[in-house]
Amino acid sequence: MAHSRQIGIGIIGGGYMGKAHAVAMQAVGPVFDPKLRPRCEMIATTSAAGAADKARHFGFLRSTGDWRELVADPKVEAVVIASPQGTHQEIALAAFALGKPVFCEKPLGRNLAESRAMLAAAEASGVVHMTGFNYIRTPASQLARQIVAAGEIGEITYFRGEHTEDFLADPATPVSWRCHGRAHGAMGDLAPHMLNGALALAGPIHALIADIETVHRQRPGPDGPEEVTNDDQGHLLCRFESGAMGALHFSRVATGRKMGYAYEITGTKGAIRFDQEDQNALWLYQGSARADRQGFTKILTGPDHPDYLPFCQGPGHGTGYQDQIIIEARDFLHAIETGQPVWPTFADGMRVNQLVEAAFRSASGQCWIDVATV
Ligand SMILES: NC(=O)c1ccc[n+]([C@@H]2O[C@H](COP(=O)([O-])OP(=O)(O)OC[C@H]3O[C@@H](n4cnc5c(N)ncnc54)[C@H](O)[C@@H]3O)[C@@H](O)[C@H]2O)c1
Repeated sequence: MAHSRQIGIGIIGGGYMGKAHAVAMQAVGPVFDPKLRPRCEMIATTSAAGAADKARHFGFLRSTGDWRELVADPKVEAVVIASPQGTHQEIALAAFALGKPVFCEKPLGRNLAESRAMLAAAEASGVVHMTGFNYIRTPASQLARQIVAAGEIGEITYFRGEHTEDFLADPATPVSWRCHGRAHGAMGDLAPHMLNGALALAGPIHALIADIETVHRQRPGPDGPEEVTNDDQGHLLCRFESGAMGALHFSRVATGRKMGYAYEITGTKGAIRFDQEDQNALWLYQGSARADRQGFTKILTGPDHPDYLPFCQGPGHGTGYQDQIIIEARDFLHAIETGQPVWPTFADGMRVNQLVEAAFRSASGQCWIDVATV
């Protein structure tokens, strides 16, 4: 006897994240056995032929070259937006107008105004809305949140975080869409994951001062050298509402860094260190240890840690990038099933866009910005 109910899922985008969400929707049943089971109903990309090929590849029943058709289809009951940021607002508003729950990849909107409009539409619709900040869902980062929340490292005094990669470190790498538009630069595109992480781990940020720059101002284009119009790197100092200080660094030209989503949290009783390049480990320093045993200890994730066991019974065997997306799918489906909001909502996505906007204002005005005024 079937114990689960089905929901028709429509995914927009068949690239890097479209595939990740398609795999997650196929795998979430076997991994988590949710009460609400996804049915991979329809996928949309920019062409009918391309979408049909993705549907065959990813196991979707139907496909379309027009996202509007997907959103309007009665058998598509929830929408996953995995297309570039410039498309997010229009798709989300169309889905909410029809009362359909939406999962939207980060960054929520291209800018703060778009994110605010998306949040308003989400709240007016009364349906589930979720933003795709996946890195904070690793078992190790969930454990870090538990340790902080339990007060095990005491009061946080300092948060140091980064999201650094090197995919544009070589100035000979040709220009692409990533080199234009604020929403595609280091601050607009990479910073959101770590800004969300900082908020989740250390609480709201009330003020910041930022510096942002383009390191390689020209790159080869199809017709010769082309101007790069967005930023390669940036950093900011901030104050959390708790009083803690913070320093955050974002870069797509950080030579050697492949997935440098990393943080160190200093507390009055202990400290935590994490690096996504070693995502199955959390480093914990406990000030209560006897003097000759003090030091950062490597905790290798295993079945005793959040969301690890459904993937693997063996401690230390590890989870990976795709597993974060499966955890997101579980949480999205659970929220739809129960009608309960799921963190991070569009409000959390909007707050990240607010910090990005504050950073740009600070960098151009060379001054501290009170985030509440943005
Ligand atoms: N959470 C993460 O780890 C992560 C990683 C990478 C990208 N992203 C985000 O995911 C989103 C997609 O990025 P990506 O790397 O998958 O891009 P991509 O270029 O690999 O794929 C984009 C897909 O969207 C489709 N698309 C573009 N415009 C469309 C339209 N108007 N209608 C229908 N389909 C359309 C394209 O056909 C393509 O299949 C972006 O918002 C990006 O910031 C998130």
